[in-house]
Amino acid sequence: MDRSGAPAQCAQAVPPPSLPAVSRLLRSALIAALLAAVALAFAWVRGGLGRAEDSRPGDIVDTQQGGAEPRHAGVRRAHARGLCVSGRFLASGEAAALSSARVFAPGQSPLIGRLSVGGGDPAGPEATAGVRSLALAIAQADGQQWRMAMNTPPVLPVATPQAFHAQLRAMAPDPATGRPDPQRLAGFFAAHPESAAFRAWQAQYRASDSWATTRYHAANAFVLVDAEGRRQPVRWLLEPEQAGAPLPEGPHAADALSREFLERLARGPVRWTLRLQLAEPGDAVDDPSRPWPPSRRQVDAGVVELAAAHPGGGACDGLSFDPLVLPRGIRPSADPILHARRAAYAESLRRRAAEVRAGAGR
Ligand code: HEM
Repeated sequence: MDRSGAPAQCAQAVPPPSLPAVSRLLRSALIAALLAAVALAFAWVRGGLGRAEDSRPGDIVDTQQGGAEPRHAGVRRAHARGLCVSGRFLASGEAAALSSARVFAPGQSPLIGRLSVGGGDPAGPEATAGVRSLALAIAQADGQQWRMAMNTPPVLPVATPQAFHAQLRAMAPDPATGRPDPQRLAGFFAAHPESAAFRAWQAQYRASDSWATTRYHAANAFVLVDAEGRRQPVRWLLEPEQAGAPLPEGPHAADALSREFLERLARGPVRWTLRLQLAEPGDAVDDPSRPWPPSRRQVDAGVVELAAAHPGGGACDGLSFDPLVLPRGIRPSADPILHARRAAYAESLRRRAAEVRAGAGR
């Protein structure tokens, strides 16, 4: 055995390279280096290999707020328009075998939530927004919290924070029209073939008539850990119990979803099933752009029930639904987008809180 671990007779059997062989080796190395340089250049252009500043939280939040100066002070830099809500999580007990988190043991835990739409404009139209969302902060009896922020798409168009930032830039409104430039957006998607599953979802998505009849997905994966330390990667979604209808033809008031939800709540609580999708070996756990086969086992962990709304903002104003705030028994996956979210949410909260202290919104 030589020091590399190869059997000694093999090492001796390899003759020293002749001069023509050396020049062939050099030529191959040169070609390989050239190919690598071309691949790197492509990756750079596609945003797959970001420059350091491409994923700095402050830079991403600058892009979200439309530049170094915020367009809207004192509000969230993403999902600025929303409605604060509260209620409870009623655990079925079915997920307790997969995770030691107390929230999954049969019983109930109080929660604060926020229904919202994508975008940084706190007065933007709700009903026709491209993305609808529900964020939750569930409090366990032992004081630990489970925070999550879910959107309508089941997968993301991209897999890295750098590409997410490039997507934000591609989606930035054109000053002339106030809308994203369709050509720039098409160019972005063409340069990001990993967005295929997202685009297929987007092509068939029809907005429903209410936040209450919308399905919300945590596109990032997490890992459930049971009492023995066994790990099960999952993605979760909220399946509405309320039957929905397609969003009727407009025009819609800018606050149409908030009004509808308040009227609905006045008639009784609104509920979703919290469904866990269990990954199998080989599923893309750390890549939120890749769906898992729909045949994967699903576990209904319980019911999210919203019973009250707090239109003034309530407890949501000082809260950031950082998806890395997790109770013991739920761990983050290694998905880089999931890990990039914490710093961006904190930066947004820091900015909006400072602006409120300085008088914004009064
Ligand atoms: C690197 C990727 C992402 C970045 C940089 C980012 C950034 C942000 C920021 C800055 C906020 C405002 C936070 C605050 O002021 O409290 C926010 C809110 C939110 N984000 Fe993300 N986000 C990312 C990915 C995602 C993903 C993958 C989802 C869901 C699948 C998501 C769902 C939400 C929701 C629902 C809210 C609103 C929460 C609330 O109502 O307070 N985000 N995001």
